[in-house]
Amino acid sequence: MTEQKKIMVVHGPNLNMLGKREPGVYGTATLDDVNGMLEERASELGLVVEAFQSNHEGEMVDKIQAAVGTCNGMIINPAAYTHTSVAIKDALLLLDVPIIEVHISNVYKRESFRHVSMVSDVVTGKIVGLGVHGYKFALDALAEMV
Ligand code: DQA
Repeated sequence: MTEQKKIMVVHGPNLNMLGKREPGVYGTATLDDVNGMLEERASELGLVVEAFQSNHEGEMVDKIQAAVGTCNGMIINPAAYTHTSVAIKDALLLLDVPIIEVHISNVYKRESFRHVSMVSDVVTGKIVGLGVHGYKFALDALAEMV
């Protein structure tokens, strides 16, 4: 049996509050719902997903470093750190696998500070504004690439 390809999913700060957090912006699905949806889709695609959430920038950096050589692709929503984190950008540069940046909301329809992403120029592609379905589309795209 060939080993299944692994996709690491990294969720940034406050995404653990999905479902309760600004439902008008982020919807009512919880993070468990999102991860469950990804696991289901992954099994249909013959992939394995490992999901991780942290409210701490350094922990996200540690997780991205640990992904080097151990996963075949990554989905990342760095949440608020998208707009500020050179450390997360530098960590992503360590990876030589496809990376999809996902934002649940359309950041370009929101405050101007959300229009800036520190990571967009180091990822493979990006999905914004499609709600939590964006994660599933990112997984489908990675399935084609890995
Ligand atoms: C977000 C958008 C960010 O601006 C915000 O800080 C988040 C979530 C999104 O998924 O739409 O926490 O990344």
